[in-house]
Amino acid sequence: MKKIIITLDGYSSCGKSTLAKEMAHALNYVFIDSGAMYRAITLYFLRNHINWNDDAEVQEALKEINLDFDYNTTTGTSDMLLNDENVEVLIRDMLVSEHVSEVAANQYVRNFGVTQQQKMGEKKGIVMDGRDIGTTVFPNAELKIFVTADPAIRVERRFKELFAKNPNISVEEVKTNLEMRDYIDSNREFSPLRKAEDAIVLDNSNLTREEQLRTALQWVNNKINELVK
Ligand code: CDP
Repeated sequence: MKKIIITLDGYSSCGKSTLAKEMAHALNYVFIDSGAMYRAITLYFLRNHINWNDDAEVQEALKEINLDFDYNTTTGTSDMLLNDENVEVLIRDMLVSEHVSEVAANQYVRNFGVTQQQKMGEKKGIVMDGRDIGTTVFPNAELKIFVTADPAIRVERRFKELFAKNPNISVEEVKTNLEMRDYIDSNREFSPLRKAEDAIVLDNSNLTREEQLRTALQWVNNKINELVK
């Protein structure tokens, strides 16, 4: 079957990664969580006290960063490796979430991320989720999905996920973080979060995981049938 590039973009915590993972699994495609890459860079900057507002410092620091994904047979998905260290759990920490959007707004960080992401898509057969995948990384992707969900539902979903790991977290903290990241991501100068003109909107506020997966896979089928005609 013809392999394509599928992009999923949208606001924080709208379920993009869950859907992207399940689509990749069903299609036997590679799933890439581009947000994990920006989170890993942020973790490196925090650990090494890199000032992400200083472009010269950022450029030097990026030379020391090697990002990779490692397939985890237990979870059935890929873990983020930062200079060969598995940081999959650490990058989901609130401290990283608090700074990742500022780091991801830096133009050198963006070039670094986008160049690597474009390489990963050379062989097609890829589902990548993020903020600028359908607009900047793969503007010619065959299928672009823009995922949305009601803000209150997004907060509730992310709160549940984080609370399971850290009972000290508050709903207010999660809400503030999502609002702040959405604001920075949408208003930054380089590669802001936008719906690509040719993206299809998937509002999953009232959809179950199975329903959203079924809808998205139907779109993939339609697209592939259209391309092989
Ligand atoms: O999973 P969640 O929605 O919380 O976010 P994520 O996908 O892990 O992305 C974390 C952050 O990385 C976002 O808030 C953006 O600031 C940044 N990001 C980006 O700038 N470009 C991307 N393609 C993906 C993520």
